[in-house]
Amino acid sequence: MPRLPEPRFVPDCAILVDGVEVPARAGESVAVALVAAGRPLVSRSYKYHRPRGPFCLAGSCGSCLARVDGQPSLRTCRVACRDGLRVETQNAFPSARHDLLAVVDRATPHGLDHHHLLTSPVALNRVVVEVSRRLAGLGRLPDRAPGPFPAATLETFDALVVGAGPAGLGAAEALAAAGRRVLVAEQAPRAGGRLRAGLPLRGEPPLAWAAEVEGAVGRAGGELALATAALGLWRDGGSPIAALAAEAPPRLRLVRASVLVLATGGTAVPPVFPGNDVPGIFAGRALAVARAEHGLLPGARCLVLGEGEEAAAVAARLAGGGLEVVARPGPALLARGRARVRAVELAGERLRCDAVAWVTPPAPAAELARELGARLELLPALSAFAVAVDAEGRTGVPGLFAAGEVTGPLDGAAAAAAGRRAGEAALRG
Ligand code: FES
Repeated sequence: MPRLPEPRFVPDCAILVDGVEVPARAGESVAVALVAAGRPLVSRSYKYHRPRGPFCLAGSCGSCLARVDGQPSLRTCRVACRDGLRVETQNAFPSARHDLLAVVDRATPHGLDHHHLLTSPVALNRVVVEVSRRLAGLGRLPDRAPGPFPAATLETFDALVVGAGPAGLGAAEALAAAGRRVLVAEQAPRAGGRLRAGLPLRGEPPLAWAAEVEGAVGRAGGELALATAALGLWRDGGSPIAALAAEAPPRLRLVRASVLVLATGGTAVPPVFPGNDVPGIFAGRALAVARAEHGLLPGARCLVLGEGEEAAAVAARLAGGGLEVVARPGPALLARGRARVRAVELAGERLRCDAVAWVTPPAPAAELARELGARLELLPALSAFAVAVDAEGRTGVPGLFAAGEVTGPLDGAAAAAAGRRAGEAALRG
């Protein structure tokens, strides 16, 4: 049973995957539709031809690439389904499931790289390069050239908040309440960040709060821009400028604001053990969101790996509806399976499963803060860098604030409070 048996999760369209119809719900991502159809194997990796499937379901890991409507290497977790959408698996022959080119993985343990195959004479070398490029699966060009990109627009707001998770919403709420015109840019198609998972965690604001904040932002003359990613930040004399890429319709927005609050959260970190890239291993929060919004059942037996309150909440969220959930704190030693995970080995135990939810704090998405010169600090427990801030979210760079998981691990309630403090500090200047 791929989805919860509720009317709101019933498929209402079909996409074509390698010519075969796969039921889907219009607007959900192709990656979610494939997992719901029992196909977590999306493609093969280039060079090694290892099976590849979605992990983060949020556009950050690059593990779900496929050719969509003739465009190669699109992140299927960022492509919305619609009736008749054409999806082709990549880097495999004749199919991702039965890929004869996987022999490359066995024959060239370090990956097939045409730079290592240079030979002479020149004519023979050309042939070797061409053949090895094809064997390595280095892709096919798009079916057609992209059309001209629309001209960028230049806009001005009182404040720009990047990220509409708990911290970003907290900051936007404080700024809008004071009458500031705020643009909130969120790269996901919905606001709420981790709140979208509906995890029963202590003190965490409900998802309905996101809609309340959107209303307050709108009444103050601002905007919540969904499916809008921040590409970069820079200064050209006065206030910083942010480059924002909106997905639908595609356009580039250059936004100038005297106050910037970065609430970019973090990116899901894959587990580290042999077999960690087997399809069917997912970021725990992502699975919980897909369960809440699409009724996704990732398999018949899911192992939730992780410690603490959030791991317990993810396990509780996923259980039921035909999905058996087993929870362990880890550490995992090995995942087994080819086209999808079949078992995970832990110390003294081998657990059969066909899905894994990996629950661990995300790595802070600190790149934008660094572009404006904010100081980062190492979090040894995460092996990652976070934005260094004071108690009010000040980064030390004039006008630049940061709040939430971009500053290190925080629960949802604490992130919302940190966002509010940063918004209020920004009002004081
Ligand atoms: S980028 Fe699509 S699953 Fe991670």
